[in-house]
Amino acid sequence: MSTVVLVGAQWGDEGKGKVTDFLAEKADIVVRFQGGNNAGHTVVVDDEEFKLHLIPSGILYKEKLCIIGNGVVVDPAVLQKELQSLKDRGIPVAKLLIDYRAHVIMPYHRLLDEAEEEQKGKAKIGTTKRGIGPAYSDKSSRVGMRVVDLLDDEDFAAKLVYNMDTKNKLFNKYYNKPSLKYEEVYNDYQNYAQLLRECAADCSEVINDAIEKGSNILFEGAQGTLLDLDFGTYPYVTSSHPIAAGACLGAGVGPTSIDKVIGVAKAYTTRVGEGPFPTELHDELGEKIRRQGHEFGTTTGRPRRCGWFDAVIGRYSARINGLNYLAITKLDVLSGLPEIKICTGYKLDGKVTTSFPASLKTLARCEPVYETLPGWQEDISGAQSIADLPENAQRYLQRISQLVGVPLAMVSVGPKRSQTIVIENIF
Ligand code: GDP
Ligand code: IMO
Ligand code: MG
Repeated sequence: MSTVVLVGAQWGDEGKGKVTDFLAEKADIVVRFQGGNNAGHTVVVDDEEFKLHLIPSGILYKEKLCIIGNGVVVDPAVLQKELQSLKDRGIPVAKLLIDYRAHVIMPYHRLLDEAEEEQKGKAKIGTTKRGIGPAYSDKSSRVGMRVVDLLDDEDFAAKLVYNMDTKNKLFNKYYNKPSLKYEEVYNDYQNYAQLLRECAADCSEVINDAIEKGSNILFEGAQGTLLDLDFGTYPYVTSSHPIAAGACLGAGVGPTSIDKVIGVAKAYTTRVGEGPFPTELHDELGEKIRRQGHEFGTTTGRPRRCGWFDAVIGRYSARINGLNYLAITKLDVLSGLPEIKICTGYKLDGKVTTSFPASLKTLARCEPVYETLPGWQEDISGAQSIADLPENAQRYLQRISQLVGVPLAMVSVGPKRSQTIVIENIF
């Protein structure tokens, strides 16, 4: 039996969906523990592509139990749509549980997300506008709506009156926006309550019981380490904890119950939204990687910013998450480049540092120090083992692992399940 936490080691979109789906074959339970439908996890099964935003990627195996933990913020409208779209494609969705304590995204959260971004103007975060930040703000401010509150009509009505009153004042008086109508929101959410009632549970109890029985459990992170509220490039972050510690908090398991942590990283780096990105490529090469890697957001369709692999971030991620293993994805995208660079440190005030700075001003002054490795020209998308890879690709992987200080467990050379090289069995 094993409990494995899978996290994004960069700025999200590392291919967590693909790796989760691959590992889920041997898992009994797959758990989402943070974030919401800001996530976009793409899984390719045979030739079919699935884009999951809220439901754990394990749903594509009919026998796995999937759990949305207490740390997730749930938009019930999105849940309903995602469930329906899976059903329409012949995927059974009966084995899904949602924690009573998970917070619910309300229409005013989505509107606030938009209004706050508008208000910030040039300083906007570039959020997904799904209401994630405002929903977590309400949770911290102790005025949030939980699944369990929605199931109690009296509680729900009282909380909704309070929230709509304060939010509508904000919309009218501060943001110059029209009010939301209480009746409409109330009726919609009464309907969603029926849906939630069918899958609401005390998921921490379910997960801990399963751990005691020796089940294999996979915790599927969303977003990435550099988007973490505490350890990311604040304020250009999301409002949850995508790091490994978030799994304990967002699923109700103790740290002593976690066996392994696997960090998923692309063979290069991407970022969607605003904020610093030291190894970003602003030239034709960046465009080429975007084209070859189809680097457009799964959730918002925005073009992703592309750049070289940053080993400073890799090491930082290894430390913050306590990574045991790395899964490197999208190695195939780099095929055909004459040479490939890895950032090994940052030049700051004439000295080279390998620390990732807290201050964005300092980070902006950091100049990446690159090591240049020879590329490979071969198509590697059919490689089944490390030995199948060209020598230069092997050398590149070894160097990444060495610089980050974490052994490789998997290498992905394409979006399909079959395009995965296993180095270490995780379950
Ligand atoms: P996530 O948010 O971390 O799950 O990542 P996304 O799904 O947003 O983005 C990763 C994209 O890369 C998806 O379209 C995947 O199908 C695709 N992908 C994953 N692994 C590989 C790989 O090894 N090679 C290629 N070419 N595509 C991959
Ligand atoms: P997955 O799980 C990449 C980014 C947004 C924005 C910032 C805050 O697919 O890797 P938010 O809507 O969360 O308040 O936006 O975080 N962001 C992501 N970037 N992948 C994601 O998820 C992301 N989820 C949020 O672009 O910069
Ligand atoms: Mg994504």
